[in-house]
Amino acid sequence: MAHTDILAKLIALRDEIRRHDYLYYVKDRPEISDSQYDQLFRDLLELEQAHPELVTTDSPSQRVGAPPLQELVKVPHEQPMLSLDSIVEEREVQAFDQRMKRELEAQSIEYSAEPKFDGLSVELTYNHGVFTRGATRGDGTIGEDVTVNLRTIRSLPLQLHAQFNLPDHLVVRGEVYMRLDDFQALNRRITEQSGDAFANPRNAASGSLRQLDSTITATRPLVVTCYEIMAVSGTVPPTHWDELETLAQWSLPVPTHRRLCTSIDEVMAFHRETESMRDQLPYEIDGVVVKVNRRDWQSRLGMKSRSPRWAIAYKFTPRKEITVVQDIVVSVGRTGTLTPVALLKPVEVGGVTISRATLHNADEVARKDIRIGDTVKVERAGDVIPAIAERVPVSGERRNASFRMPDHCPICGSAVGREGAYVYCTGQLVCGAQLKGAIEHFASKHALNIEGLGKKTVAMLVEQKLVRSLADLYRLTKDDLIKLDGFADRSATLLLESIAGSKLVSLDRFLMGLGIRQVGQHIAKVLAREFGSLDEIMSADRERLQQIREIGPEISESLEVYWSEPRNREIIAQLQELGLQVALGLGSADRRKSPLAGKTFVFTGGLDRFTRDDAQQAVETVGGRVASSVSKKTSYVVVGRDPGSKLDQARALGVTILTEQEFASLIGKEEKEIS
Ligand code: IVH
Repeated sequence: MAHTDILAKLIALRDEIRRHDYLYYVKDRPEISDSQYDQLFRDLLELEQAHPELVTTDSPSQRVGAPPLQELVKVPHEQPMLSLDSIVEEREVQAFDQRMKRELEAQSIEYSAEPKFDGLSVELTYNHGVFTRGATRGDGTIGEDVTVNLRTIRSLPLQLHAQFNLPDHLVVRGEVYMRLDDFQALNRRITEQSGDAFANPRNAASGSLRQLDSTITATRPLVVTCYEIMAVSGTVPPTHWDELETLAQWSLPVPTHRRLCTSIDEVMAFHRETESMRDQLPYEIDGVVVKVNRRDWQSRLGMKSRSPRWAIAYKFTPRKEITVVQDIVVSVGRTGTLTPVALLKPVEVGGVTISRATLHNADEVARKDIRIGDTVKVERAGDVIPAIAERVPVSGERRNASFRMPDHCPICGSAVGREGAYVYCTGQLVCGAQLKGAIEHFASKHALNIEGLGKKTVAMLVEQKLVRSLADLYRLTKDDLIKLDGFADRSATLLLESIAGSKLVSLDRFLMGLGIRQVGQHIAKVLAREFGSLDEIMSADRERLQQIREIGPEISESLEVYWSEPRNREIIAQLQELGLQVALGLGSADRRKSPLAGKTFVFTGGLDRFTRDDAQQAVETVGGRVASSVSKKTSYVVVGRDPGSKLDQARALGVTILTEQEFASLIGKEEKEIS
């Protein structure tokens, strides 16, 4: 075939497949059988395999996934992705209508109402009609680039229908979610392969979309619905209703169940009808979104800090079902918090079977007076973990004794500590439940900074029982590591080297690494500065601790509880026996004597010998401070590779300029004086 013929054939095949995708996934009106479709797809793959140079990103073949990513890249949104205020009561929706009328000085307002899909929000960008980028909402300003994953979603057009004038640039907002039957089938598949099932369709959608390996996403039955034009070149439709119609003309899936309401009463009727269909819908919705229809009015109303004034999420009352508490157990989280959990007679709440519900804490159990054997109402407020709403008294029932939180951790037997309503295990360094978290924290960047000891490795080390305490880290051998998945001779050597390299550690980093409640980076520094040695800190009593300005009763109590658990002290002793040396910090008196005390350093450009964190740490150890901008008060500007404008500012202001070398020797000299 001539080149042009191949190209023509490819284009025709792709168009044909796109049309059938649209009919099947968006319109729900297929025109050909599955096997006919499969044949078309195979033809396309064959042709593309023979001519890889002709593969384009908008080809349907790209829906099978791409090579795995290292990480999801953070991307800023073109427009902030707002959230919605939510309400549940009729009077609140009336008040919303009143507010709109007042602010718009209008007698009547048209509202567009549509379901509130319970999934995750995405930003979809089309340039010249081709899907070019997709991102999760993230914090509303910055999301994660999930373009390759979104490409695998069949109802998402990779190319928009061109018969209507397409804008050069279009940014659309939509929701990615999973149908209930697909969700259940997926969970069955996962449990058969002994994986962890997803708690609800929303988590399943989110977990599936935020995958590094898009070939996994491709096997997950995700769908998307679009409900907002966030940015468009050219004319914007005058109303939200037209906006949805326009999106539909471009072949984007939009909510099919929606209504243009001429009054708030009609909105309430739509809400009621939609709520009554809720259990019959094939997917989860948790309310109705009500939007002022006219876009000029939307702009006039504007927005608050995180949500538009012209729209509201009119939620459904959470679904409740009745069941029985079969047992109350206590689970220990990774941070050591003890949580009472009710084990329930399995009950289906809105399409999801629930057999556990959190009881949050002892106060909550007491307040709701929940005991084993009780009949209770369970609710699932759309999202997260199901909770017990209330006890349902049953006449003539004989109740069990009230629940009491244990005095000892059910996992490791250490004594528990209490902080208000929260009860936690004090055996931080010995408790199996906390071990993974404790090790990850100990190895983290601002603590011992052990490179190569990430979440996955820690999980393997703990699960294979190679590490049962922090001290065991320093007992690991190459033979141990080579047995682990993904480790070879070289990676094992590297990890052992970085573990060995962490043996000399500054006092504040070590303290921070212990993961004592309330003792984060800042407090660890304060303690190191004040006391200068681990022994001093370990023997300081409450009064002594509270003489320090930053340390209040909670921190001093937390320290006291920590040191009073003999096993924590034992682990520290073992660490020291295994060669861990905690360097002395500068005591406050020494610090004031230091010639660099109170000096301000500014860094510009890349350093070779230090990370920025290390440099900052070094400066602080000698009593100095790091600032981010140059002023007359700056003592030194340290200049690395490719310095920025701060160098010019330093010159202009006559601030002393140091090379990295000079900086190192300034600090190095200090270190010698200290020891
Ligand atoms: S409109 C500026 N419409 O609900 C308007 N949101 O709590 C922004 N959502 O994060 C949103 N269905 O993920 C809109 N039909 C719908 C929606 C919808 C679900 C989600 C969206 C947002 C959350 C707001």
